Amino acid sequence: MEPNFIKKISYLLYCYLEGSASEKDRQYFHLYTRIKKCALCSSLVQSRNTVVTGQGPVPCEVMVIGEGPGYHEDRQGIPFVGPAGHLLSKMLASINLDRKNVYITNIIKCRPPQNRDPQDDEIKNCLPFLEEQIDLISPKIILTLGKFAIQTLIHSRQGITHLRGKEYTYHTVPVIPTFHPAALLRNDSLKKETWQDLQMFGKKYQALSTGYTFIKKRTK
Ligand code: URA
Repeated sequence: MEPNFIKKISYLLYCYLEGSASEKDRQYFHLYTRIKKCALCSSLVQSRNTVVTGQGPVPCEVMVIGEGPGYHEDRQGIPFVGPAGHLLSKMLASINLDRKNVYITNIIKCRPPQNRDPQDDEIKNCLPFLEEQIDLISPKIILTLGKFAIQTLIHSRQGITHLRGKEYTYHTVPVIPTFHPAALLRNDSLKKETWQDLQMFGKKYQALSTGYTFIKKRTK
């Protein structure tokens, strides 16, 4: 069992025993254990080391949704901890968001073999978990990374180049798509448009936020 899982379970167990678990904590605990035990996709069950549920506060104003765990995430059981994750942290910091205050998850929770694209049936199997997560996290705004996340949320087959640069909604929650940080690491020329998307996201969030999630601006 990976340390992240043990830490979370121990904390939730403590809350239970102490009687301080909120209804949301209970529901999240229940969801978390169901995701961890899922065995719907036979090829992913064989290739995975861990199931990567999500990371961040519950509930949370900002939710980030990626594609699926890669090598590092599969080892550690935490989303976006490899090179793409480091870039994601920098992207969030560029709009004054600390990743500690953001809930991060993926469309599929298990690493596909050789990092291949998630398949339609895998996305379909995992979607009810994501829907429950969004419900529990109750974000004010969602940032999606790469084509699979936005396609899944808005039921589209268009590519990310076509979909980015606009705002969508998922059950009334504003959704802003941008390129996946892994794509940025491969292709520098996507940086300018990603920056524009992040600016759009930051402005929209600022208009919706209670102010709690923003990193405090450093005083010189
Ligand atoms: N890429 C993703 O889409 N998600 C991760 O968690 C890591 C890399």
